[in-house]
Amino acid sequence: MSIRSLFPFFLANPDLAYLDSAATSQKLGAVIEKERIFSSAFNAPIRRSTYSLAFEATEEFENVRGKIAALLGAKAEEIVFSSSATGAFNLLANSLGYVEDPQSPLFIGEGDEILLSRSEHNSVLLPFQELARRRRADLKFLPMTEEGEVCGWEEAIGEKTKIVAVSRLSNVTGAFAPVGKIAKAAHGAGALVVSDLCQAAAHERTDVKALGIDFAAFSAHKVFGPTGLGFLYGAKPLLDLLPPSLFGGGMVESAWEGKRAVYKKAPWKFEAGTQPVSQAIALGPAIDFLKNREHDEGLFTRRLLEAASIPGVKILGPLSPENRAPILSFVVEGVHPHDVAQFMDANGIAVRSGHQCAQILHRAFGYPSSARASLSIYSEMWEVDRFLDLLSGVRPYFLKGE
Ligand code: ALA
Repeated sequence: MSIRSLFPFFLANPDLAYLDSAATSQKLGAVIEKERIFSSAFNAPIRRSTYSLAFEATEEFENVRGKIAALLGAKAEEIVFSSSATGAFNLLANSLGYVEDPQSPLFIGEGDEILLSRSEHNSVLLPFQELARRRRADLKFLPMTEEGEVCGWEEAIGEKTKIVAVSRLSNVTGAFAPVGKIAKAAHGAGALVVSDLCQAAAHERTDVKALGIDFAAFSAHKVFGPTGLGFLYGAKPLLDLLPPSLFGGGMVESAWEGKRAVYKKAPWKFEAGTQPVSQAIALGPAIDFLKNREHDEGLFTRRLLEAASIPGVKILGPLSPENRAPILSFVVEGVHPHDVAQFMDANGIAVRSGHQCAQILHRAFGYPSSARASLSIYSEMWEVDRFLDLLSGVRPYFLKGE
């Protein structure tokens, strides 16, 4: 059985070359089925009611927490459910903003430094910008090479650095960042390491402990699961110290008159309100699939990179297939990326165009936007062939007679 046949989307769209998996992946049939079965026959509230159906739902939900933890090499209590990766990074930054004790390793104060790579997209950039603004901290950026790879962290990390945020795999350049090395330098200076795993989760098994990551996040919809669901990973001692920033039912042990309430332990103190229960339970098969995948993307990455030899095509990212995933952002000189995407669409290819929520990186490259072809485990070579074929035709089509 082909991997593609596990994804019903391709049955419905057999002729479409879907090259936008970095924006959202297609969903496994087993995920869709699991959500349908849970919602139609087993739906019950978690952690609230005492009948057996509710216990079973709670157990299934917590099992998925364990699966996610195992995927990342973490413990179940280190995984916090949230609405998305964006929700998770907001939770982290907001909670850091609530830390009042200057002695806490999580305290960010006036003059402290938050250091981000230029590859961070808005879900990381904006919450940390807000945190820096509120705490009068400085927000600085790590240098990058001409190909958009993070560099110069040893010189950039200093005694004022409190947080270093580097996404493990850029949604624009397709390059894996050396997060392990960066974490060593950051920890040496007493700083915390935050890593966005949204893209990495679909292309590698990231071991957060081996890389020395203190906080990380990713979302379910980029790893063959449902929308409306994301996760924050936090090393347990840090999660214990981090105050919650979302308050309500489910996160509290007891509430009293006046200003008194006792919150639950981590991770539950961060999970106020009804959680995305059916989505989380449905994600279980996707995590099993991710854990067991054996997929060499090198061939696809190498073939995609052949785009670099098409006249007028500029790649935003490294040209070597090493340490790279099949995510290719590019500019066709003289043609707007939206025109490129529409031209592709008219010929049966879905690619993304725009700033890809990474304006800082695009500005650093000297372009306001780009088009992007991104592959996943279900991609097939005919899709890349068609893409390259069409890409060669973009300039002749739009710049006739120039
Ligand atoms: N979801 C955004 C993308 O398409 C960040 O890369």
